[in-house]
Amino acid sequence: MEKYTQFVKKEIGDFNPEYAIVIGSGLAPIMDKVKVKKRISYKEIPDFPVSTVEGHRGELVFGTIGNKRVLIFNGRFHFYEGYSMKDVTKTIRLAGELGVHSLIVTNAAGAVNTTLEVGDIMLINDHVNFIYADNPLRGEKGNKRFVNMIGVYSREFIKKFRKIANREGIPVREGVYCAVSGPNYETLAELKLMNRLGIDAVGMSTVPEVIMAAYFGMKVLGISCITDAAFGSNEVSHEEVISVAEKCGKKIAKLVEEFVKEA
Ligand code: HPA
Repeated sequence: MEKYTQFVKKEIGDFNPEYAIVIGSGLAPIMDKVKVKKRISYKEIPDFPVSTVEGHRGELVFGTIGNKRVLIFNGRFHFYEGYSMKDVTKTIRLAGELGVHSLIVTNAAGAVNTTLEVGDIMLINDHVNFIYADNPLRGEKGNKRFVNMIGVYSREFIKKFRKIANREGIPVREGVYCAVSGPNYETLAELKLMNRLGIDAVGMSTVPEVIMAAYFGMKVLGISCITDAAFGSNEVSHEEVISVAEKCGKKIAKLVEEFVKEA
């Protein structure tokens, strides 16, 4: 067990989280749905990175949604911040070592599929990893590192989430998410390439975390807030991404709350 897990275990005692939720850029309203039991700042945790991105807080939050025990990562780490993939995925390794069985991961993403609109919620049904420079499992020992990635995004979770969204009258789309390293946004040629490859949305996170979740055998639900028409516009800005995500955030928070309660 990693040093950071040992530290957190001591802090939370026998609170065994069942679900982990990663909060993406501007998607903090999920926090309003949690009955908080304990907060731990990333800064206090030995061997743990800190968030350096505007729109990302840096704390672990333990609490409950309905009768489910959850661990929330209020702020995530990105490869573009200069961290190794091993560091980027310490959140998920921590969750895995604490026995979390399901991961809900959220992000802000640009639309590559031109039928997606700004403000849409897209459930991730598969991904393409365009970050070749490093891998979260690089350096792991044993055969477990050759992890299967087929069917990582649980069909059952997608179906359940869709049912709830239907009931709440909130439309959701579904598609393939592509991870790039960032921090620059894509060129038009890159977006055209992605579009031809069948990619629906592009972002700078999530995929490393999902690889680590697969390594720990977790079930995964991935949710993107489409913050910009990457492939249909000539400019994207971080400020725009955050401002749209904040609007999306309330809807996603409501759906995640119901999803966890009913799971
Ligand atoms: N490209 C990459 N990452 C992003 C985008 C985008 O257009 N929007 C939000 N994150």
